[in-house]
Amino acid sequence: MCGIVAATAGNNIVPVLIEGLKKLEYRGYDSAGLAVIAGNEIERTRAVGRVAELEAAAGQIAATTGIAHTRWATHGVPAERNAHPHVSGGIAVVHNGIIENYEALRSELTDQGYVFTSDTDTESIAHLIEATLQTNGNLFAAVRLACQRLIGAYAIAVIDQTQPDRVVVAREGSPLLLGLSDSGNYAASDASALLQVTRNMVYLENGDIAELTASGIRISRLDGTPVKRPVHVSELSADAVELGNYRHYMQKEIFEQPEALANTLEAVGGSKTIQPGIFGAGAAGMLAGIDSVLILACGTSAHSGYTARYWLEAIAGVPCNVEIASEYRYRTSVPNPRQLVVAISQSGETADTLAALRHAKSLGQENTLAICNVPESAIVRECALRFITRAGPEIGVASTKAFTTQLAALFLLTLVLAKVRQRLAPPQENCFLDQLRHLPVAVNKVLALEPAIEAWAERFADKQHALFLGRGRHYPIALEGALKLKEISYIHAEAYPAGELKHGPLALVDANMPVISVAPNDDLLDKLKSNLKEVQARGGELYVFADEDSQIPESDAVHILRLPEHYGELSPILHVIPLQLLSYHVALVKGTDVDKPRNLAKSVTVE
Ligand code: M6R
Repeated sequence: MCGIVAATAGNNIVPVLIEGLKKLEYRGYDSAGLAVIAGNEIERTRAVGRVAELEAAAGQIAATTGIAHTRWATHGVPAERNAHPHVSGGIAVVHNGIIENYEALRSELTDQGYVFTSDTDTESIAHLIEATLQTNGNLFAAVRLACQRLIGAYAIAVIDQTQPDRVVVAREGSPLLLGLSDSGNYAASDASALLQVTRNMVYLENGDIAELTASGIRISRLDGTPVKRPVHVSELSADAVELGNYRHYMQKEIFEQPEALANTLEAVGGSKTIQPGIFGAGAAGMLAGIDSVLILACGTSAHSGYTARYWLEAIAGVPCNVEIASEYRYRTSVPNPRQLVVAISQSGETADTLAALRHAKSLGQENTLAICNVPESAIVRECALRFITRAGPEIGVASTKAFTTQLAALFLLTLVLAKVRQRLAPPQENCFLDQLRHLPVAVNKVLALEPAIEAWAERFADKQHALFLGRGRHYPIALEGALKLKEISYIHAEAYPAGELKHGPLALVDANMPVISVAPNDDLLDKLKSNLKEVQARGGELYVFADEDSQIPESDAVHILRLPEHYGELSPILHVIPLQLLSYHVALVKGTDVDKPRNLAKSVTVE
């Protein structure tokens, strides 16, 4: 929800802090700040708004040690006084996460004479470390002891003006990694912020604390036990996080889908058969023993789960439930130790999904699989099996390529489960694998529809509401289309299974309510056509994404775009793409901030 960068080096680190924050802005973007040690004093600069505002405010500041932060407000409105870093005496702190016992700490520290100047939970961390430093002059020890008193999730970075050559960082629940180089050492919320200086990354574990100087690092557990963590050489290309010729990351990421799918499907390469091993060592045994699937996810990732439910039950014959993670974690459910629990997440750090996974495990459900885009993330580390989608970094808040690659992964899971249950004859297996391999080409053809979709987008600019319809495995695609539109264009959008229309939402239909329908030529098309007639009969204006052979006639109030290929079971992967493009172009017409829509953040690492 927030982004952290910290650095200590032999040269000026301020440009590294600013550049790093720009890369992390997707995590939060309502205010930003930095603190450096200059002339043995903390110098702090904060600004409401984007990192560009901070950059302007920072002017010519130069230093060799510093910390920086971009914020997504949880405690306290976006305002300079609530922006990080927070200072206490000679120390400064940046924080990502939520401290649950901050009120108790605040009252204890107020009693000790500390004066709070912000509404944040973070300020109590700053005062707590300062108070601990009074009895223990060593920053590393003081941060370690202070962290023992924190309840909640955090990644923090701390500097002390009396020890100007070092930064101390710690993590529990929120992501944090170190970047190592010959000229200095760094820390950040994710690797993209540090690719400017190094590819050598050390991922901290929950409960780790680290001290960085320009010449080295040391890591210990919160109880003081020293630990070593492996150095990973990041494979992220710097280009992957650059905009290139695109106007927005969302646009770039929509157009990267053919490549993202091809990379993700490398798991099945040129093979004519699919093996359980693509989900990790031990998958064959575990998947053979399961009797059902429980999918846990949020937002767009939940929509990929809803789609997979149709595949898993129809093709693999496995009962499947999909639960919104924030609901599952707090409801009393009936555990089933033979169930496969699938956590789906682009970031792998979503607090609700992680908590739901832990809850499922605490109920004795140990058959767990992560479908995730970030290999080192908490969700991946906490699952027995894993499938890493290879979408590359997704920066735009609105998820696009993560969704289609999740669908590809879930289709592979369907095929593996169908196979272990003897429901997949070799010719059918071969045929599905060929279709999967052809997907990047098919997606490219759909992307070519962009000019026609752009023309449609103009008509949505003055609308307040929109309805999305789909049936069967395309109903979740309608849900995803509605989420995309509301997320980035702020048009209120709802999705319904088309058969539900007459049970209520039809009352909303008039000339001012555009109705967008996903209409592939499948066994439900005739039913869907009847539902579309119901809309027409009420004067509604229809925008239909059909297949080439869907046979829906065009008229003044029925606008049709035809997708070039009919794609059977995998059709949801193609049909979501025009909906992504439609929401992107409507947002462009409306002039919203496409990559950083209001009130949202990319990684939701708080509850
Ligand atoms: O990283 P995750 O996939 O776990 O994130 C889940 C949701 O927060 C995410 O999909 C969100 O709904 C997107 N902004 C939708 O575009």
